Amino acid sequence: MAIMEIVKHPAEVLRRKAEPVRKVNASIRRILTDMAETMYDARGVGLAGNQVGIAKRLVVIDTGDGLLQLINPEIVKRSGEIVEETEGCLSIPGWQGEVPRDRELQLKATLPNGRTAWFDASDLFARAIQHEIDHLDGVLFLDRATRVFEVTDDAGEAGDESAQAEPSEATAPKEA
Ligand code: NI
Repeated sequence: MAIMEIVKHPAEVLRRKAEPVRKVNASIRRILTDMAETMYDARGVGLAGNQVGIAKRLVVIDTGDGLLQLINPEIVKRSGEIVEETEGCLSIPGWQGEVPRDRELQLKATLPNGRTAWFDASDLFARAIQHEIDHLDGVLFLDRATRVFEVTDDAGEAGDESAQAEPSEATAPKEA
């Protein structure tokens, strides 16, 4: 396993449309494992292939209910109920925005074992999925935000390796 470098805005790969994965093999599973490790290391709730410089449709997500490794994720249904919440992005440190998103959706994805799975997602999970699939399409939260603002890091947050067990405070906007 290895921690990968998280690409920062305005890197070109963040604006690229990621390619579908045609074959799920050991190499894809290895990338997903490294992406998960990278996401946890950065205390994020999601990470897309583009964000580690790999323009393939790969996403890892953990919004508190365990790790999901998704290949070619696709939103198949949206609730149409739009909610606006504060969002951050591991590729855009120091900035957050108010972003309108569907509150609920249905997701289809291939799993690392090659099987297809369907998920019902709501709230933070649904938001993270929309944020990550946007990444795969070269879209950033900045493009969708009704308001963007600069934030200062909490004191002691950066480089504090001892507090890694807790992904983030319940009240803090989640980065993905
Ligand atoms: Ni992001």
